[in-house]
Amino acid sequence: MSQYAEQASCEPVCSDAMKQLLTRHSVGPKHLAPPAPTEEQVWLAVLSALRAPDHQKLLPFRFVLIPDDARLLLGELFADFARKSGKSDEEIGVERNRAMLGPLLVAFVTCIEKDHPRVPPHEQWLAAGGALSNFLTALHIMGFGAKMLSGRKAADPVICDAFCEPGETLVGWIAVGTASKAPHPRHNDNPDAILRRWQPPKRLTGAPQN
Ligand SMILES: Cc1cc2nc3c(=O)[nH]c(=O)nc-3n(C[C@H](O)[C@H](O)[C@H](O)COP(=O)(O)O)c2cc1C
Repeated sequence: MSQYAEQASCEPVCSDAMKQLLTRHSVGPKHLAPPAPTEEQVWLAVLSALRAPDHQKLLPFRFVLIPDDARLLLGELFADFARKSGKSDEEIGVERNRAMLGPLLVAFVTCIEKDHPRVPPHEQWLAAGGALSNFLTALHIMGFGAKMLSGRKAADPVICDAFCEPGETLVGWIAVGTASKAPHPRHNDNPDAILRRWQPPKRLTGAPQN
């Protein structure tokens, strides 16, 4: 284990908040049972999303709660997409049922301004990703499970049109609920894989270049 990994799991360094952060994991819709978060808890998760770093506070993302009584309709959109994609009747049924999984379903939509004078698209995407991550982590801290799902249907024009205004992108859906099974233990998080010390190129340091 690296020095950093040791520190991350070391008791005195870890506040409760750090422990919660270090144990976030996704819970697939099949393993999500009631209760769903209350409206107030969803609101807190959205408030957390607003704490993500967002250059110029453009808010290039939004969350869309899918009411229970609209799930059947969403299921028909999923089924139509599966039919158009040449799936079998059984697969169409599976796709239709995906709209019913998880006690709460929330669509995640982005609006990336291509020609913003100060904030390039990659920064807006990062802001949206940070918001999504904060949303999921806040739900985890409040004791809920969740998973972000997209799939090819998220890019289907008919489905996009049902969620998006012009210029927006439907990223996918977040299934939320209470985990009905314990998470798999995770052993493979290795900060060394993504942490480097900068070594300035030799051309900048004056060191001989070979
Ligand atoms: C934008 C986005 C779309 C995703 N779409 C899918 C998907 O369609 N199917 C899937 O199995 N995982 C998808 N994932 C990955 C899962 O949400 C999850 O992050 C992954 O299984 C790793 O699990 P973990 O969050 O516990 O590390 C997506 C993640 C993101 C950020």
